[in-house]
Amino acid sequence: MTNINYDFIEEYIREKIDYDDEKLIEMRNYAEEFHVPIVEPETEEFIKFLISVARPKKILELGTAIGYSSISFAKFSKNIELIDTVELKEDTAKVASKNIMEAGLSKIIKVHVADAYDFLSNCDEKYDLIFIDAAKGQYEKYFNKAINNLNKNGIIICDNVLFKGMVANQDLVKRRKKTIVKRLRTFLKNITKEENFITSIVPIGDGVLLVREKDEEN
Ligand SMILES: C[S@@+](CC[C@H](N)C(=O)[O-])C[C@H]1O[C@@H](n2cnc3c(N)ncnc32)[C@H](O)[C@@H]1O
Repeated sequence: MTNINYDFIEEYIREKIDYDDEKLIEMRNYAEEFHVPIVEPETEEFIKFLISVARPKKILELGTAIGYSSISFAKFSKNIELIDTVELKEDTAKVASKNIMEAGLSKIIKVHVADAYDFLSNCDEKYDLIFIDAAKGQYEKYFNKAINNLNKNGIIICDNVLFKGMVANQDLVKRRKKTIVKRLRTFLKNITKEENFITSIVPIGDGVLLVREKDEEN
């Protein structure tokens, strides 16, 4: 449980989610058994909903883990032509590549073994959706680079921005998480004040930040 919502609300929402894809069920079970952090079920559904509205063709994901979210998104939307996903750990990236191959999605999902910031520093590609889900303490750094890789009308989604409630409540902060919490707070403070962006912090899963650039209409 994430400390963001009442447990009974989270359980109720999760009960309503239909898990019918065998590969994704197998991957969720694997993630639970081996303590791999993957997207919360309700966040996954929320992002899939956003994908159905925004219809992105090209997605960048920072933080692949075992490939769960990229496989889920690619299976969900036939519009998606490319997901570049970046993972620091070589072993984890290998598991992701195997899962992606087994899901028959190797032509769409490309796994890059790299540090997310280094990847962004060398990336000229433009994306319609950027999902930031790598090192939580680096979100502001990632964001400031990633914004240059976002197409007009694109969306940036950052997961875990409320970080088990610690970002919003000092009493919950664990000592060894102090730096991450401080950096997430600074990032949220700065980004929500930015006049060029429309932002929304959504208390779903572990807290999701949505950002897009303002245009002539709003
Ligand atoms: C929360 S998991 C990603 C979960 C995945 N998006 C999903 O929902 O299925 C975060 C991943 O980011 C990776 N990571 C951590 N620091 C990173 C960095 N500096 N660059 C790239 N990946 C990083 C971790 O190894 C971990 O696998």
